[in-house]
Formats: sequence, structure tokens, C-alpha cells
Amino acid sequence: MELAQAARSQWKSRLGAVLAAAGSAVGLGNIWKFPYLVGANGGAAFVLLYLAFVLLIGIPLIMTEFVVGRKTTRNPGGAFRELAPGTAWVIPGISGVVAGFLILSFYSVVAGWVLRYAVTSLLGALSGLNPEGAAALFTEFIGGTWAPLFWHLLFMALTVYIVAAGVQEGIEKWSKILMPGLFILVIILVIRSLTLPGSHPGIAYYLQPDFSALTGKSVLAALGQMFFSLSLGMGCMITYGSYISRQDSLVKTAGQVGLIDTLVALLAGLVIFPAAFAFGIEPGAGPGLVFITLPAIFAQMPLGQFFACLFFLLLAIAALTSSISLLETVVAYFVDEKDWGRRQAAVVWGGLAFLAGIPSALSQGAVNLTVFGLSFLDAVDYLTSNILLPLGGLLTALFVGWRMRQEDVLAEALQGGGMTTGMAQVWYFLVRTIAPLAIGLIFANAIGLF
Ligand code: PFF
Repeated sequence: MELAQAARSQWKSRLGAVLAAAGSAVGLGNIWKFPYLVGANGGAAFVLLYLAFVLLIGIPLIMTEFVVGRKTTRNPGGAFRELAPGTAWVIPGISGVVAGFLILSFYSVVAGWVLRYAVTSLLGALSGLNPEGAAALFTEFIGGTWAPLFWHLLFMALTVYIVAAGVQEGIEKWSKILMPGLFILVIILVIRSLTLPGSHPGIAYYLQPDFSALTGKSVLAALGQMFFSLSLGMGCMITYGSYISRQDSLVKTAGQVGLIDTLVALLAGLVIFPAAFAFGIEPGAGPGLVFITLPAIFAQMPLGQFFACLFFLLLAIAALTSSISLLETVVAYFVDEKDWGRRQAAVVWGGLAFLAGIPSALSQGAVNLTVFGLSFLDAVDYLTSNILLPLGGLLTALFVGWRMRQEDVLAEALQGGGMTTGMAQVWYFLVRTIAPLAIGLIFANAIGLF
């Protein structure tokens, strides 16, 4: 462990740190999950609530994880152990490793769907589809047995290969070039979607809030989505923080990561809802929403098949930079804390995550696998996003707010600049009081305590 510490690398610049953390944050959560959750939870009111959570809890918590990571320069498990040796504070570190493993298991299944769409659009399978055709194609594909497993395996193998070979830097360099491409494509899609005849009710649905549509469950869903999308609550940002130079501003980095991630999610909604209304696709269609709406949009564009292929390919790469960070969280724990080899840890845990993902892959029609009325995939997603991640975030906030020494925390937060002492006090107050209270109240509300 000492050796690894001595040779520990750092981002070459603050831009590098922002892009790497944004690579983890931007992924399926923004483009697949955010729109379908907005659709399932009544539209604009959910969006506003989500934005409030990002500002009041999300960005302050990114900052909090950065503080823990940079102060200790360790993986999450090791960071808590160093700051509070021999106490129960190892729990948030370990729960983060468990959450990372479980998220990876179903994330790879959905990323497999994306890979499959990238390849089949190249072969013309999406060409000229009407919305009914797109829905039928999707249902048939995810309801199969071997095809979803094959694409899940392929995506997991890519993730394992990159983490095992320790070549994240290579992919991160590529993604710095490719992700702006994804962003530009999303903008093109926004324009196409907004100019479809009949798209206006979709804009109203997305932007005019009706707060009566919100329930305790949708408030928890917004909170869970904020954690999932910002890669928070499982120590992922602790790991990224541990690579940030002490000369760089933590608050600026945290703010920019939060901003980029949120912008991509908001734009994805601006693609999906106008088009869904124009085509008569039910916004509450669930996890298939994006896979049905997007092919219908591409069918209405010149060079649609080319754009479809490019889009799904870039989305698969965005998903890959996120899945790498999920597997890396698990691998770093076993390498740093249990003295495993990197290759061994990546192959074993990636392989196990593949196996753990099989019920998720098959729960979409091949077999009838439901837990509390949710498909197995949705149930694992629910457990991780809505329970484990917010719980991890709650414990991290309590740790930094109440267990660490205030001077240490504020000194680390201010180190590198970007924030006045007054702003740091506001941040500290949010972390110590508001974030834990809000998370606790939302949990209590969702289980019906009020
Ligand atoms: N933030 C990723 C996304 O929105 O797709 C998913 C994710 C990655 C969640 C890493 C948690 C994490 F630690």
C-alpha cells in the first residue's frame, strides 16, 4: 500500500480532473434514466425538484467527497479507515463497494442494449421505423434470452479489459474528444425534436410544473436519481478527489462537474418529451422510453441511420467511462485493502457482476422475475439508487460534518482557492445540517412515517 501511495498519480490539470469526474457522472443516468423517471413521475415538477437537490445537496456532496479523497489520498474504504481508525466508520466505505458492484450488474445490461442498438442501426435495423415498430423491436429484443446476455457480456468484458489493463487514461483521453461529439449530437436532436409537428405539449409537460403530481415516492426518486447521476454516495468522487492536486480549487471542480452532468440530463429531456408527444408515445412508458422515442426521431431525420449509429456508439462510450468508475471502486478496495492484484480483482469482480446481472437481463420478458412488483432490474436499481447511495451520502455528510475536525475540513475545502471563507461556512452548514436532515426526512416520508 505504501508503494502505491508513493507512486500515486495526479491529474495533470484541473481540466483533466473535471473531465474525468464528468466522465463518471455523465452516462446512462443522464440519457436513459433521467427522461424515463421524469416521465414516470409527472414531468416538470420532478425536474425542478431534481435541480433543487443538485444545488443544495448534490454539488455540496461532490465537494465533500473531494475533501475526504484529497485529504487522505486513498480509496473510499481506506479513507474512512485512516480518518477514524478502528470504528464503525468503515461502513460507508464498504456499502459503497457493495453499491458499486450492484449498480455495475444492471448498468452493463442496459449499456448492452445501447451497444446492440449501435450495431444494428449500422445494419439498417432501425431504418424507417414508426413509433409502434420501434416499441415492438425494443420489446422483442429485451424479452429475448441470448441476445441481451450476449450484449451484457460484451459490455462487461470491455469494462473488465480496461480496468484490468489499467488503461483508463487511454479511454479518458479518447472520451475527452468524443464526449463533446455526444453533446453536439444531443443538441442536433433537441432541434429536430422541437421542430416536429405536435411537439409543443411535450415542452409544456417538461417545463410547466404541476406540483400536485409529486408524491413521497417521486421525491425519493428525484433524490436517488441525483445520487446516481452525479456518481455520489458510493465513494466514487472520493477516489477522483484523491487525484486532485492541492493547487486546484475543489469547489470549482465540483461545481463544473455538477453543471455538465445536469446540462446533459436536461437536454436529454428536451429531446425525449417533445418527440414523445409528437409521436403519441406515453411519457410514463418506463425504462424503454428512450429506446422507443430515439429511433422514432432518427427515422424522421436525413441520414437518420448514420446519426443513430453515431449516437448509440457515443452513448456506449459515455456508459463505459461510467462503468469503469463503478468497477474501479470495487477493484481499488480489493487492491488497496486486501492486497489483491489489479488484474485478478478486475476479472473476478467483473465476472461476478456479469453473473449478478443475468437475472436483471432476463427479467425484461424472458422470465417472470419481480421483486415487490418491480422487475428484477428495476428492483436492484431502486435498492442502490434510492437506498444505498443516499444512505452512503448521509453517512459521508455526517462524518465530515460531525466527526472530522471543523478546522481540518474547512482548510482542505479552501485549499486551492475558488471560495471565500463565508462560502465555505455556507457549504459546511449545508453538509453538516441541511443535507443529512433532507435525506433523513425524504426517507421517512417515503416509508410513510408522516
Ligand atoms: N453516474 C453514472 C450515470 O449517470 O450513468 C452512473 C454511476 C457511475 C453511478 C458511477 C454511480 C457511480 F459511482
